[in-house]
Amino acid sequence: MSENLAIVRSRLNRPLTYGEKVLYSHLDDPHNQDIERGVSYLKLRPDRVACQDATAQMAILQFMSAGMPSVATPTTVHCDHLIEAQIGGDKDLERAKDINKEVYDFLSSACAKYNIGFWRPGSGIIHQIILENYAFPGALMIGTDSHTPNAGGLGMAAIGVGGADAVDVMANLPWELKAPKYIGVKLTGEMSGWTAPKDIILKVAGILTVKGGTGSIVEYHGPGVNSISCTGMATIANMGAEIGATTTIFPFNDRMYDYLKATKRQRIGDFARSYAHELHEDEGAEYDQFIEINLSELEPHINGPFTPDLATPISKFKDAVIENKWPEELKVGLIGSCTNSSYEDMSRAASIAQDAMDHGVKAKALFTVTPGSEQIRATIERDGQLKTLEEFGGVILANACGPCIGQWDRQDVKKGEPNSILSSYNRNFTGRNDANPATHSFVTSPDLVVALTIAGDLKFNPLTDTLKDKDGKEFKLKPPSGDGLPKNGYDAGRDTYQAPPEVRSEVEVKVSPTSDRLQVLQPFEAWDGKDQKDLPILIKAKGKTTTDHISMAGPWLKYRGHLDNISNNMLIGATNAANGEANKVQNQVTGKWDSVPNTAREYKKNGIKWVVVGDWNYGEGSSREHAALEPRHLGGLAIITRSFARIHETNLKKQGMLPLTFSNPEDYDKINPDDRVDILATQLEPGKPVTMVVHPKDGKPWECQLSHTFNEGQLEWFKNGSALNTMAKSHKN
Ligand code: F3S
Repeated sequence: MSENLAIVRSRLNRPLTYGEKVLYSHLDDPHNQDIERGVSYLKLRPDRVACQDATAQMAILQFMSAGMPSVATPTTVHCDHLIEAQIGGDKDLERAKDINKEVYDFLSSACAKYNIGFWRPGSGIIHQIILENYAFPGALMIGTDSHTPNAGGLGMAAIGVGGADAVDVMANLPWELKAPKYIGVKLTGEMSGWTAPKDIILKVAGILTVKGGTGSIVEYHGPGVNSISCTGMATIANMGAEIGATTTIFPFNDRMYDYLKATKRQRIGDFARSYAHELHEDEGAEYDQFIEINLSELEPHINGPFTPDLATPISKFKDAVIENKWPEELKVGLIGSCTNSSYEDMSRAASIAQDAMDHGVKAKALFTVTPGSEQIRATIERDGQLKTLEEFGGVILANACGPCIGQWDRQDVKKGEPNSILSSYNRNFTGRNDANPATHSFVTSPDLVVALTIAGDLKFNPLTDTLKDKDGKEFKLKPPSGDGLPKNGYDAGRDTYQAPPEVRSEVEVKVSPTSDRLQVLQPFEAWDGKDQKDLPILIKAKGKTTTDHISMAGPWLKYRGHLDNISNNMLIGATNAANGEANKVQNQVTGKWDSVPNTAREYKKNGIKWVVVGDWNYGEGSSREHAALEPRHLGGLAIITRSFARIHETNLKKQGMLPLTFSNPEDYDKINPDDRVDILATQLEPGKPVTMVVHPKDGKPWECQLSHTFNEGQLEWFKNGSALNTMAKSHKN
């Protein structure tokens, strides 16, 4: 890190932010890399990859097709997203193991085969496990989950990515990231009373809104940072995802050292101390945007409903509830999740619950507790907080995502019935928790969740209002208290980790050939070296074509690990310019109108390659790699558009497709859906356009130029059939 930094420093000759230090010290080529915030694309070498079970399936299947014996970068897989909350921890876990058996068997065997650490169902939520075991100051990690930035609480630049990026890093390709801008948040003062670390990010979300962090790293600093526990910093970093930030990072400090020590990593803490001068921003480092928050004045906040940036301080929340006619009764309070399930969170929550019980009252609303990891669960079981929360009325759910990701068999209200719930989670979009669009979901600290759960009323403010004890006498709740770290150390609990075996060559990856959820990927065919002639246009898409239009989510998520099955959703949301309809195109061979996937399959069956014509910013939305895999799988050759969303364009290249743009965007209008096209692929060269000959059904052929952004290395991807084929080839050589 220091060596790379020295090179970059001598080139830039200016003070650096901490985030810049971490990123630039992981550059693939620090001597020659262009570095301009918000402009250049950095090629980076992350230290680590983490995948959760829903996104890991396709990532590993793709990695397998590269034919490498093991991952090139340390990687872990975490089983947390597929466990539905129904009655309580153990039973829910057993049911999930049964329902998801083939997925778990596949992941566990593939991890063993390819030298990947496997955290079994029940181990906990990916971001907690990373914080407890793998995060360290100055490191760079990518994770296939949007809340990966959680590890910023331990000074790590941890960035959420799509599966395709994870595959690159597993396979030893450098990873590309647009050089972020920097938002500095200076914290002064000190928190007290009911104010918790969560309130800092709830406040920041209110200031910056859900889009305000886009393309930026949020970097906290200032004297106030030292009053926040390491896990509290993780909560803040975690929820940076809610403002669209690339990641959030805190500078190394004693609180991190204490946490490293408590989690049996004192040596890493000592090592970090010896490099401490590089683990914070340089004096005079410049930020593109700057915010200052005085923690001594910060009020507890409740954000929502339906969006995490609608921030209301507790003193104004009652009025907001009345004014907006939000359902006043609190139906369910939910604490825990990857955001807020630390020992400190649970201890503070238990102190409030105990206070209430000392007055003879318990939770009025339903109340659930999601420990973030088995280690947390076992430790709070040993130290008594779990028992307190149970006596208070809490249902202890599995150490998993559960209601946070809609894995919640909620029974207390009917679909469509307006109601309010309050959680210590991070996201509260419509329907996220219980698939009920009428549920008003609010996010806040675990402290306020517990307090309002006692009142069963959204209008309750524990700072000013009183409750009635068992005899009808009024009392005020005491502000929460609790240890940041367990005095007797953490209890690891049940052993839920599967380390990869020493000898892995004999391990067989378990994928049933009859499975409808998993399918082994075959390497895509290499280019035949010829111009591609007489290709039909599968669809001329009109207007917005996002990755959701190309590969829908919802029920299709079940097939994430089965390329052939999920391909039945290919482009079914795109509008056909020929008829203005979605998922109805004409087969140019038979004349029959059919769905897009069926038509593509017909072409493929008859050995006919096809192209898609698209409009502006084709593929905007997410980095979903299925949107690029599906057209390749169903026999597509090129996607020709007015312009591309950059990530999708790269994803198409990686899968061996040709993303091309009309050099003259008006040529899009001249193309008819029933034209045939020739693509003179032999002309492909970096920086030079290729010719497309268009053969209208009745009329004279005409030519147009198509631009592309392939560089030398990327052209090899096309020639070899995919980026992974290219990796596999270089591995064999
Ligand atoms: Fe899981 Fe929710 Fe966190 S889905 S990873 S607990 S944001």
